[in-house]
Amino acid sequence: MRMRCKAIGILCFALIITVGISFDVAGEDPEGQMIVPMGVITLKAPQGVESKKAPVEFPHSRHFATDCKSCHHKWQGEEKIKGCQTSGCHDQAQAPKKAVSYLSYSDVGIKYFKYAYHQACIGCHKEIKAKNRQLAQSYQVVKDQLPPTGPSGCIECHPKE
Ligand code: HEC
Ligand code: HEC
Ligand code: HEC
Repeated sequence: MRMRCKAIGILCFALIITVGISFDVAGEDPEGQMIVPMGVITLKAPQGVESKKAPVEFPHSRHFATDCKSCHHKWQGEEKIKGCQTSGCHDQAQAPKKAVSYLSYSDVGIKYFKYAYHQACIGCHKEIKAKNRQLAQSYQVVKDQLPPTGPSGCIECHPKE
């Protein structure tokens, strides 16, 4: 009997991993259920873009120590979360013209999908690295106990195909 319970436990766990956690966002209404992808999400350029780099394997659930809203910044917590390339958000497929491109992370530039991802992803990883460098210099934390961070080098995110 004990074995059976354990097996069921593992099965449920596997189901959660593959199907994702579902958040009930509208009471009993099954249409209101939001599926949260666990594990890795493959991030690609919008349709029509001829990618120069390989798509990015993004370990979504490894980021859940971070507040959902720091990435899903338009989310109010009630409705379903929408993707980054939702129309009018970060769906611009072409780099903005030169005059704007030096303002890459301005209101205009940030609509270009690449600037949006690079600002969010590389921005945060670099920020943690900078803080870690300070911590290490201050000798407050031993080097191998510094908080984990993510990659900031091109190949680490876009592996060579
Ligand atoms: C570090 C950034 C980051 C954090 C933190 C994060 N997510 Fe995400 N999430 C993403 C990205 C990037 C995608 C892919 C969006 C896309 O494909 O356009 C995504 C996709 C999703 C989707 C699917 C949206 C769709 O396109 O249908 C859901 C739902 C979701 N996240 C829920 C959550 C929840 C709930 C949390 C907090 C527990 C969370 N996310 C935390 C970055 C993040
Ligand atoms: C708010 C900060 C934050 C943002 C935004 C963020 N990350 Fe991370 N990322 C982290 C942290 C912290 C870790 C380390 C997690 C761990 O190991 O527990 C991490 C780890 C990773 C790793 C795993 C590296 C390894 O060692 O295997 C990848 C890949 C990654 N991030 C890609 C991305 C991508 C792509 C985005 C943008 C969609 C993104 N991250 C956005 C903080 C962030
Ligand atoms: C933390 C992860 C991360 C790092 C580091 C990173 N990128 Fe990206 N990059 C992304 C994501 C996510 C996208 C959007 C999805 C896609 O197009 O693959 C993207 C998109 C792009 C695009 C537009 C799409 C294409 O393939 O043509 C280019 C070009 C690009 N990156 C080049 C670079 C270069 C060059 C570097 C190093 C200076 C770099 N990236 C570093 C995550 C990263």
